[in-house]
Amino acid sequence: MTRYEEFCSNLAGRTSRWVVTGAAGFIGSHLVERLLGLGQQVTGLDSFISGSQANIDEAVRSSSGRSSNFRLIRGDIRDMEACREACDGADFVLHQAALVSVPRSFEDPDLNNSCNVTGFLNMLIASRDAGVRSFIFASSAAVYGEQPQGAIREDFPLAPLSPYAVAKRTDELYSNVLSSGMKSVGLRYMNAYGPRQDPSSPYSGVISIWMDRFLKGDIPVIYGDGKTTRDFVFAGDIVQANILAALSDTGGSGRENIFNIGTGIPTTIESLLHFLKDIIGKHRPGSGEVRAKYMPERHGDIRHSQADISLARKILGYEPRYSLADGLDITVKSFLKGRNGD
Ligand SMILES: NC(=O)c1ccc[n+]([C@@H]2O[C@H](COP(=O)([O-])OP(=O)(O)OC[C@H]3O[C@@H](n4cnc5c(N)ncnc54)[C@H](O)[C@@H]3O)[C@@H](O)[C@H]2O)c1
Repeated sequence: MTRYEEFCSNLAGRTSRWVVTGAAGFIGSHLVERLLGLGQQVTGLDSFISGSQANIDEAVRSSSGRSSNFRLIRGDIRDMEACREACDGADFVLHQAALVSVPRSFEDPDLNNSCNVTGFLNMLIASRDAGVRSFIFASSAAVYGEQPQGAIREDFPLAPLSPYAVAKRTDELYSNVLSSGMKSVGLRYMNAYGPRQDPSSPYSGVISIWMDRFLKGDIPVIYGDGKTTRDFVFAGDIVQANILAALSDTGGSGRENIFNIGTGIPTTIESLLHFLKDIIGKHRPGSGEVRAKYMPERHGDIRHSQADISLARKILGYEPRYSLADGLDITVKSFLKGRNGD
């Protein structure tokens, strides 16, 4: 039995109280789904600036848990009272709410700062004051900026290239000095994908955007020569990392409270496209035959991104469970189901 399986089976035997901020978003809704399925009580906090009620409804419906175990607070993490209300009586906090768009963080750095730094601080302080056991938060691989090709370790020099990345790094530093005894762990997600990722935003992940284009018969766009690499991590593995981080005894101070969460496997954008074509073609013959259009590289795009996940493996017992082929298959099926209105 893996550590994750062990933790999940222990959880199923007793009910704890969890807070998920950003519960109406892509990753937050997967956390809600899994925790409800494990019989936990979950409070979601979301302002719906980018999330949707449909994500929450689907998470609750798919969870096989009791919907009465879920409570939603429609509120903003910039409002300290909403944060305190959510954290009151909580055992664990999984903080996911953020404005996720890098371009938007350049256009409106104040909004980025208020949501991604002040909102973070509110949640950190509200969690600490409420005596929660673990505060787990979404950081990002964006804190690394451009790195030489190869796997990135947590102790590599950081070079955040956007206000969004600066905010995520600032959050990590605040968590080091303001947690006062509460366990706090930052997870640097690589490129996440899975069901419920919003394809309508130009800032979404490439997988949801391409799926949408394929199914509409539109041409997917590759910026640059297609040799750019990314470490694509399925939502189910992000959920695993959050639960492990919340429940493990480890995750003290310094380097060991920050972990890369990816698969450790780089995939070129070109090979991603081939994978996706095959899988879409399998489920809906004819739909994956569109050719990609190549456009010039976008300013600010990072060339290579690949996580070294050995620290998360060693300290948290994290082990990715979804290959790219499996994760894409689940994602495509869910996307098609949504399209057909099932
Ligand atoms: N998706 C990825 O590839 C990726 C990669 C690295 C890090 N992350 C981080 O993971 C977390 C979740 O990302 P996601 O992809 O699910 O994004 P998402 O946009 O789908 O979800 C974010 C949620 O936060 C909510 N939110 C935003 N600002 C808020 C505020 N001020 N108050 C209350 N709620 C607010 C939104 O309404 C939304 O439901 C974010 O912190 C993001 O920075 C995501």
